[in-house]
Amino acid sequence: MTDKTKDQIEEEFPDDFYPYDKEDVRQFYKQITNKIQEAYKIPELIPIAFPNFSEPIDEIVIAGMGGSVIAGIVIKNYFELVNPNLRIIIGNDYNLPRLISKNALVICVSYSGNTEETLSMFKDAQRRKLRVMAITSGAKLAEIASNYRVPLVKIPGKIHPRQALPYLYFTTIRVLEKLKFIEDHSQLINSLIKVLGQKNFESLGIELAKKLYKKKIIIYSTKNLKGVAYRWKTQFNENSKVPAHLHYFPEICHNELCQYMEDMSEYHVIILKTDKEPRRMLKRIEITKKLISKACEVTELDIKGSNDFTKFYTAILIGDLASYYLALRYRRNPSDDSIIGTLKKELGPWTS
Ligand code: F6R
Repeated sequence: MTDKTKDQIEEEFPDDFYPYDKEDVRQFYKQITNKIQEAYKIPELIPIAFPNFSEPIDEIVIAGMGGSVIAGIVIKNYFELVNPNLRIIIGNDYNLPRLISKNALVICVSYSGNTEETLSMFKDAQRRKLRVMAITSGAKLAEIASNYRVPLVKIPGKIHPRQALPYLYFTTIRVLEKLKFIEDHSQLINSLIKVLGQKNFESLGIELAKKLYKKKIIIYSTKNLKGVAYRWKTQFNENSKVPAHLHYFPEICHNELCQYMEDMSEYHVIILKTDKEPRRMLKRIEITKKLISKACEVTELDIKGSNDFTKFYTAILIGDLASYYLALRYRRNPSDDSIIGTLKKELGPWTS
C-alpha cells in the first residue's frame, strides 16, 4: 500500500461521504495522539493497592465484553509475543474462567459501566475472594467498585466503547506498570506517538476500504496478531455493519484452503502478518496466498515497525480506519450500533 497526498485522498474519497459520520469519529482519530497521552496519565493519581492481600499478583484477569474487553485481548496478545512468562487471562462471560490463581488480580472493564456480564464477573471475583478493581466511565460498575472499596479508574465517557480503545488500552497498560506487573512503557508510547504523527494511516484505511467495498470479508492472521485480527473483525461488524470471517494460520491450510478450489470472487481475503514470523510460516503464507489468489482477491498486510508495541497499535489503527471508511462508502453511520442497545433493552434490567 502507498502513502498518498491529501489531494489524492480527497479526490478518491469525496467530502460528501463524511456527513454519514454522524458523531464525528474522524475528529477523534485526528486527535489520537492526544487521546493516547491523556489515557496513559489517567491512573496516575489513583491509588491502586490491595491492603487485604499479602502475596504478589501472579496473574491478571481482564474481564469485560465487546469493545471494552478488546483492549485486554490485544494486551494479552502483545505480551504473549514479547514476554510469554506473564499470565494474562480474558474473562468474557457471566462467570470468570474456572481456573484462576488465588493471587490473581481481576480487572473488570466496562466502558458504560452497565454491562451485566461484567457486573456478574465482578460479583464472581468477590465471591471467590479475589483481588478486584474496575475501569469504567461510571454507572453501576463505578457504584459497586466504590461500595466494595476496590480501586476504581474512571475514564472519560460519552463515546462508543470501541472508539474509546485508547482510554481502555493505555489506561490498562499504566495500571499494569503501577502494579509492577509489566515494565515502564513510556519510551515505547513516545515512539508510537512519533510514528502516528509521521505516517498517513488514513490513506491506508481509505485504500483498503475501497478494495473491500461490496466484497465479503475474510481475515486470516498468524497467531502473533490474533488479538489484532479479532479487533479488525469486530470493527468491520460494528462500524461497517458487514460480516467478517476470521481464521488463523497455520490451521486454515488444513481445511479452509479447500474452499478456494471453487470461484470465490465475491470475497476479499486480508492476510495479516508481522515481520517476526518464522521462515517456515512465511513460506506457508506465500504458497497459501498464491493458491487462494486464483479464486479471489487477496491483500497481504505486513505489519512493520521499529518495535512490537508500535506494530500492534498501528495495525489496530489501520483496521479501525478501514472499517470506518468502509461504513462511509456504504453510506452508513459508523457509530450506529443501535441493535446492541435494542438487545440490551429487551433483556431488561439485570439482577444478580
Ligand atoms: C459498542 C461496543 C460493544 C460494547 C459491549 C459492552 O461500541 O463496542 O461491543 O462494548 O456491548 O458494553 P461496555 O463496553 O459498555 O461494557
